[in-house]
Parts: sequence; structure tokens; C-alpha cells
Amino acid sequence: MWKFLFCFLFIRYGTGEKIIIIGAGSSGIAAASKLLSHNISDFRILEAEDRIGGRIHSIHLGSAYVDLGAQYVHGMKNNLAYELAHNFVIPGNELNYTWMYYNGKRRVDDNLLNTLWDLTPETYEDGGSNVSVGDAFLSRYNSTVFNQYKNDTQMLTFAKDFIRICECSILGLEGSFSWFKPIATSSFQDCDGPNTLSWNGLGYKTILDLLLKNFPNKTGYDITNNLSLNTTVTKIIMEENSVKVKCADDSEYNTEYVLWTPSLGVLKHDHKSIFQPKLSDERINAIENFGFDGVMKIVFEFPNNWWGEEKYFWFVWNEKDKDDVIKDVSFGPVKNGDHWLSWFFHVGSAPNNSNVLIGWMVGPMVAETEKLTEEQMKNGTVYVMRKFLSNDFNVSEPIRVIHSKWCTDPKFRGTYSFETMDMSIKNISSPQRILQQPVFSTDGVPRIFFGGEATSPTRYGTVDGAIETGYREGNRLASILKNQD
Ligand SMILES: Cc1cc2nc3c(=O)[nH]c(=O)nc-3n(C[C@H](O)[C@H](O)[C@H](O)COP(=O)(O)OP(=O)(O)OC[C@H]3O[C@@H](n4cnc5c(N)ncnc54)[C@H](O)[C@@H]3O)c2cc1C
Ligand SMILES: *[C@@H]1O[C@H](CO)[C@@H](O)[C@H](O)[C@H]1NC(C)=O
Ligand SMILES: *[C@@H]1O[C@H](CO)[C@@H](O)[C@H](O)[C@H]1NC(C)=O
Ligand SMILES: *[C@@H]1O[C@H](CO)[C@@H](O)[C@H](O)[C@H]1NC(C)=O
Ligand SMILES: *[C@@H]1O[C@H](CO)[C@@H](O)[C@H](O)[C@H]1NC(C)=O
Ligand SMILES: *[C@@H]1O[C@H](CO)[C@@H](O)[C@H](O)[C@H]1NC(C)=O
Ligand SMILES: *[C@@H]1O[C@H](CO)[C@@H](O)[C@H](O)[C@H]1NC(C)=O
Ligand SMILES: *[C@@H]1O[C@H](CO)[C@@H](O)[C@H](O)[C@H]1NC(C)=O
Ligand SMILES: *[C@@H]1O[C@H](CO)[C@@H](O)[C@H](O)[C@H]1NC(C)=O
Ligand SMILES: *[C@@H]1O[C@H](CO)[C@@H](O)[C@H](O)[C@H]1NC(C)=O
Ligand SMILES: *[C@@H]1O[C@H](CO)[C@@H](O)[C@H](O)[C@H]1NC(C)=O
Ligand SMILES: *[C@@H]1O[C@H](CO)[C@@H](O)[C@H](O)[C@H]1NC(C)=O
Ligand SMILES: *[C@@H]1O[C@H](CO)[C@@H](O)[C@H](O)[C@H]1NC(C)=O
Repeated sequence: MWKFLFCFLFIRYGTGEKIIIIGAGSSGIAAASKLLSHNISDFRILEAEDRIGGRIHSIHLGSAYVDLGAQYVHGMKNNLAYELAHNFVIPGNELNYTWMYYNGKRRVDDNLLNTLWDLTPETYEDGGSNVSVGDAFLSRYNSTVFNQYKNDTQMLTFAKDFIRICECSILGLEGSFSWFKPIATSSFQDCDGPNTLSWNGLGYKTILDLLLKNFPNKTGYDITNNLSLNTTVTKIIMEENSVKVKCADDSEYNTEYVLWTPSLGVLKHDHKSIFQPKLSDERINAIENFGFDGVMKIVFEFPNNWWGEEKYFWFVWNEKDKDDVIKDVSFGPVKNGDHWLSWFFHVGSAPNNSNVLIGWMVGPMVAETEKLTEEQMKNGTVYVMRKFLSNDFNVSEPIRVIHSKWCTDPKFRGTYSFETMDMSIKNISSPQRILQQPVFSTDGVPRIFFGGEATSPTRYGTVDGAIETGYREGNRLASILKNQD
């Protein structure tokens, strides 16, 4: 009787849940929703943050939600995020309401701008098979734009200064610190349809509720009992026929299966300390050569709307602007003669939010810049907005300036993955496919599974890619559990 009771207790509480999902970002939540759709609820999600969502982080500011992380649904066709979101997102107006500033004035030469803009997609479509995005862009620029304006010194100067804007938008797209790191011809596949579908003030967080069937009505899955927040996993130890998961708060789980979903940045930094035994050389090689840097978003709440209707401002820095900012703003990093603020290139309207603007900063100093205080960030960015816009607008003092800290946050260590020149040099064609292979225990059973944005072969770097990987691993786990019965 004693023995029987002991066994019973051991099985109920000693081994605990069958599956541990690490990370409650879009991938972890998608995996949980997939398990629940298979009527599997014997899982627990361990999340280091005190919120779900991960790189989806919508905060309420002004009159609506604004996103410090993912903001747009990129395309419609074969897009899992769009499938969930189609009733709630609308195409953005960025291109129609672009206001570009140069030499203190709005640049009205739209034809020229369009010519220059078109080069960016062309660089990707026809960049050459083994060349960085930066090199592909520059050689195309040289043979078209420079050639076209070689007799017009004024235009040529503008064209040269305009390169920085192209570089900034490519860095924003790739999430890299340098445009010589990403490769021009990558395995990323676009989804047809508008590329910047907006949540119109609801925030990208709405997709988490949609995944759990809790939007618009909270009638779907309730995962509160299956979720441990503030729980950072520090060790994943493969045993003979189970996995032990240890956390920073000393809690411990013995489980049959683990699904890992934290970012590639976390893997790069922590795989050696977390995984026992260590990961295979092939996987480590993929982790090290797949790219993961970062960008910064800055959200501004103003006491008034000084810009009028919807607008998207672009700042084309010239040599004098760059000299001025070095003289006038004495704090923050400077690298290779470039001031951190000279990488602040864009600020634009926030959906359904008349007094809020969203800004972007990119380039090699993003991580250092994240460490500045809110006051410093406000002082520097207001200086830049006034420098470029004062001829046309009275830029007021913002009430709040909140900047993202993705690169220095140990739970992310960057923003989104990109394919690199290093992969080409090291002959790694699909790190995503290497990363998604499960790790087996010595008894030959797959036990540690890998999801997350960076394991999507064609939609890495996006929310829909992260969802795809959560569904993939959720289905895989469900079929393993079914075969056990
Ligand atoms: C600034 C920015 C803008 C973006 N814009 C877009 C966009 O417009 N459209 C788009 O589609 N995508 C965009 N993305 C990318 C998109 O946000 C990501 O691809 C996607 O959210 C990643 O989801 P994930 O579940 O793979 O990872 P994550 O969201 O990073 O989830 C992993 C979770 O694991 C947790 N974690 C980490 N370490 C541990 C640990 N040791 N123990 C326990 N938990 C841990 C983290 O806290 C996190 O919650 C953007 C990203 C950023 C940062
Ligand atoms: C899950 O359970 C419900 C209700 O018991 C049932 O209708 C449904 O078919 C089950 N789904 C699966 C995938 O087993
Ligand atoms: C997580 O930690 C934060 C601060 O450390 C605390 O405010 C919050 O209540 C905690 N949340 C949970 C769910 O434990
Ligand atoms: C924006 O421009 C595109 C094409 O240039 C046009 O089809 C679309 O209707 C415009 N949208 C708005 C809101 O003006
Ligand atoms: C453009 O290409 C020519 C010829 O290859 C080269 O001499 C020149 O330096 C290039 N210009 C720039 C700005 O890169
Ligand atoms: C530039 O000037 C040269 C010599 O003056 C002329 O031959 C050439 O056609 C001009 N090029 C363009 C693009 O105008
Ligand atoms: C949500 O609830 C409202 C009001 O209770 C109801 O009218 C609506 O049909 C529900 N929508 C869905 C999708 O269930
Ligand atoms: C997950 O939640 C469901 C429903 O609340 C519950 O039945 C199940 O036991 C939970 N699983 C774990 C591992 O706690
Ligand atoms: C946003 O504003 C539009 C009209 O400007 C309105 O139709 C829509 O309901 C609003 N969305 C939200 C989420 O408030
Ligand atoms: C930034 O701070 C400096 C020094 O305190 C001050 O002189 C300047 O006016 C501030 N600029 C802005 C735009 O707030
Ligand atoms: C800025 O404000 C001043 C004083 O209120 C006003 O004279 C000026 O016309 C405004 N400038 C612009 C561009 O609105
Ligand atoms: C790509 O170029 C690098 C050097 O730039 C070279 O080492 C590598 O072998 C090339 N790869 C292919 C597939 O051509
Ligand atoms: C690159 O890897 C492929 C297999 O992925 C292999 O067939 C090819 O021989 C390798 N090339 C080099 C240069 O190592």
C-alpha cells in the first residue's frame, strides 16, 4: 500500500509535466495553441520575462498601443500571421506620406527619390549570388545613379548623401549593424500583398490572443495554469531517458520533452552554459555564422500634434549636419567619426495615435546607444528633429521618449536573424534547417526540440515565421505523444 501510494505520488508530482516549452514569444505560444488543439495540456511554459510576447511588445501610449518590437504583418499570401490577423489589419500608408528632408528643406523631387528607392529592391532581386547587400547596392548605385549625374555636381552630392538613407533602410530591414554582413541573395521568401499591414492601434500583441482564440472574445484557451513567468532557464541537461531543466530561481523540472524557443542571440551567448552535453559542432557552427544584430525603435509622446495628418519623415544627413551634431551633442557614442545620432534617420506617425511618433535608429552603435537615459535620448532626438524640420514645423518637447533595448537585454540580445556572408564563406546553406533538428537522448528518442523565428527556412526574422515554427514543433510533439499511447 505504501509502495503503491509512493509510486502514485511520484508519477503525479515527481516527473511533472511531459513537455516544457521555454519562451512565451509568438513561437512558444503558437506551439502551446497547437498542443491544446490536439487536446494536449500536459505542458508548462517557462518564460524569463514577466509578460508573454517576447519580441512582440505592445505598450499603451497616447491613445492606442504602439509596438517596441514587431509592428507590421509582412504580406498576405501564405502568411500565417495574416491568416490570423486578416480581419484586424489594414495596409499602411508609408510610401504615400513620405516627407524627405535634406539641407533643412523638404525634398520635392519625387521622381528622383523613386529612382533611388527602386534600387533597394533591385539589389535584392538581382544582387549576385555571393556578395553582401552593401556591395551589391553600391555597385548598382555607382553604375546607375553616379553615372547618370556625373556632370551635375549638386545632384552628385545629393546622391552621395542619399546613400546613407538607403543603408539605413537596409539595416532596418536586415537588423544588422553593417550592410556588408548580410548576403544579397538569401533564402527569405516574400509573401504577396502589402508589406506593411498595420494593426491600427490594437498592437501586435493581439496576435497572441488570436493564437489562443481569445480575440475578439475571451472564449478560447486559458493558459494561466500552464505558464510560469519570471522564470529563466539556466540549464538543460539530457539524462538517459528524460530531460532536466534548471532555472535561475532554483526550480527544477524533470520532463520528457523540451521545446526551446529563445532567440538566436540568446543561443549564441548562452548555448555553452545551458546545454549539457554540449550541442553538436554542426549546430554550433550554424549558431555562430547565422546573423543576429539589432535595431532600435524610439516612441515619442508629444503634448500636441505638431505635424498635422499622417506623415513619415526621413532625414538625409549631409556632411555639415554630421559635423554639427558632433559639436552640439556631446554625450553618447561616436564611432569612425560618426555620431550616434547620425544613424537616427526616420520618424513617422503611429496608427490611431495623433500625438505619438515612432522613430528608428540603426547602425554599428545601437547597442551602446541603448544604454543612454530617457533624458539623453529625448535631448538628442529632439535636436535632430528640430535640425531637419524647423523650417516647416514647431517640434515640441515630448512628454515621454521610450527606446527599445533589445540588444543589451539578456533575454533577446538582438532583434531578428539574417543570412550572412560568413555562411557563404563557411558553406552553410541553411542554418535554419540545422537548428530545427531535435537532439536525441542516448536511448534514441528525440527529446529537445527547437523552434523560434531563426528556425524558419524562408520566413526567419518575422512573427509569421516564428508561428510557423511553433506549429511545426507543436505538431511534431503531438504526433510523438499519440504514437506513445
Ligand atoms: C524591433 C523589432 C521589430 C520587428 N518588426 C517586425 C515586424 O514588423 N514584423 C514581423 O513579422 N516581425 C518583426 N520583428 C521580428 C519578430 O518580432 C520576431 O521574429 C518574433 O517575435 C520572434 O518570436 P520568437 O517566439 O521566435 O522569439 P521571442 O519573441 O524572442 O520569444 C522567446 C522568448 O524566450 C524568452 N527567453 C529567452 N531566454 C530565456 C531563458 N533562458 N529562459 C526562459 N525564457 C527565455 C524571452 O523572454 C522571449 O519571451 C521585429 C522584431 C523586433 C525586435
Ligand atoms: C479534442 O477534444 C474535443 C472534446 O472532447 C473533441 O471534440 C476533439 O475531437 C478532440 N480533438 C482532437 C484533435 O483529438
Ligand atoms: C515578476 O517580477 C516582477 C519584478 O521582479 C514583479 O513585479 C512581478 O510581480 C513578477 N510577476 C510574476 C508573475 O511573478
Ligand atoms: C497610396 O499610393 C498607392 C499607389 O501609389 C495607391 O494605390 C493608394 O491608393 C494610395 N493610398 C492612399 C491612402 O492614398
Ligand atoms: C565607381 O566605380 C568606378 C569604376 O569602377 C570607381 O573608380 C569609383 O571609385 C566608384 N565610385 C564610387 C563612389 O564608389
Ligand atoms: C557629361 O558631359 C560630357 C562632356 O561634357 C558629355 O560627353 C556627356 O554626354 C555628359 N553626360 C551626361 C549624362 O550628360
Ligand atoms: C463576441 O461577443 C459578442 C458580444 O457578446 C457577440 O456579439 C459576438 O458574436 C462574439 N463574437 C464571436 C466571434 O464570437
Ligand atoms: C494546463 O492547464 C490545464 C487547464 O487549466 C490543466 O488541466 C493542466 O493540468 C495544466 N497543465 C499543467 C502541466 O499544469
Ligand atoms: C482606428 O481609427 C479608425 C479610423 O480612424 C477606426 O475605424 C478604427 O476603429 C480605429 N481602430 C482602433 C483599434 O481603435
Ligand atoms: C540638450 O541639453 C543641452 C545641455 O543641457 C541644452 O543646452 C539643450 O538645449 C538641450 N537640447 C534639447 C533639444 O533639449
Ligand atoms: C512656430 O511657432 C512660432 C511662434 O509660435 C510661429 O511664429 C511660427 O510661425 C511657427 N512656425 C511654424 C513652421 O509653424
Ligand atoms: C563566396 O565568397 C567568399 C569570399 O568572398 C569565398 O570564400 C566563398 O568560397 C564564396 N562562396 C561561393 C559559394 O562562391
Ligand atoms: C558545401 O556543402 C555541400 C553540402 O551542403 C557540399 O555538397 C559541398 O561539397 C560543399 N562545398 C564545399 C566547397 O565545401
